Amino acid sequence: MEDLLQLKNIYKDFGNVKVLKDVNINIKKGEVVALIGDNGAGKSTLIKVITGVHKPSSGQVYFKGNEVVLKSVAQSRKMGIEAVYQERALCDQQELWRNIFAGREITNTFGFIDIKKQRKEAEKILRDYIGFTSKAITVDSTIMGLSGGEKQGVAFGRSLYFDSDLIVLDEPTMGLSIQETEKVLNFVKGLKKENKSAIFIDHNIIHVYGAADRFIILDRGEVAGEFNKNEISRDELVKKMIQLHESGKIKVND
Ligand SMILES: Nc1ncnc2c1ncn2[C@@H]1O[C@H](COP(=O)(O)OP(=O)(O)O)[C@@H](O)[C@H]1O
Ligand SMILES: [Mg+2]
Repeated sequence: MEDLLQLKNIYKDFGNVKVLKDVNINIKKGEVVALIGDNGAGKSTLIKVITGVHKPSSGQVYFKGNEVVLKSVAQSRKMGIEAVYQERALCDQQELWRNIFAGREITNTFGFIDIKKQRKEAEKILRDYIGFTSKAITVDSTIMGLSGGEKQGVAFGRSLYFDSDLIVLDEPTMGLSIQETEKVLNFVKGLKKENKSAIFIDHNIIHVYGAADRFIILDRGEVAGEFNKNEISRDELVKKMIQLHESGKIKVND
């Protein structure tokens, strides 16, 4: 499998705080990678480097074999990296027909937003890509009025419509009902079939083990271990995490 994303020697400091330290990660095409580790390990920061929210203090990012300097979310989106954020709970007053196309507006020949076309495409996304059948949700619904699972659905629909190569999910099941969680995990698993890749963060090792092909353990800003699903059982993975926590060591295999 060919590498879709490569992170080489990534460091990220916030002032004096070294949050990421020499992180090296590869993600192949059609691969689902789970990023696991304690609170404060640097998982969200790493994901924000990938989505262009944070510029790394040093290190290189390669996407589809080319070095890229990610400067903004809009730019990484354009390249094919789509994020589903932990901060999705932030209230958003935007209607769906606007929100889905934020940063990728459909414009007419005069450069203005083509409202009619955006509404029509948004309707298609709701129906065909997300499968919303409830009459209560229309293109005029605001993000704020959706449930957690519905918000996730919108983010997924968007990534499918724009044909993203890499879907980045930061705790996508947080605060969701059991049924909604199931839907999210099925979506993540289904990405492989489309030869899309995903990097996802989840605290629940059962979710992680079920959905991912590979696990990367991040500990205090460093990659502490990496395992393919076929080389480790779920119980062993849990054991490794506990060992890491109790020993205070940086590498799982030290
Ligand atoms: N914008 C920021 N400014 C300063 N410190 C930050 C910022 N974002 C994250 N941090 C710090 O970086 C560390 C890692 O945070 P984060 O990446 O959110 O961890 P995780 O997602 O693994 O819980 C934490 O100590 C956090 O306080
Ligand atoms: Mg986080």
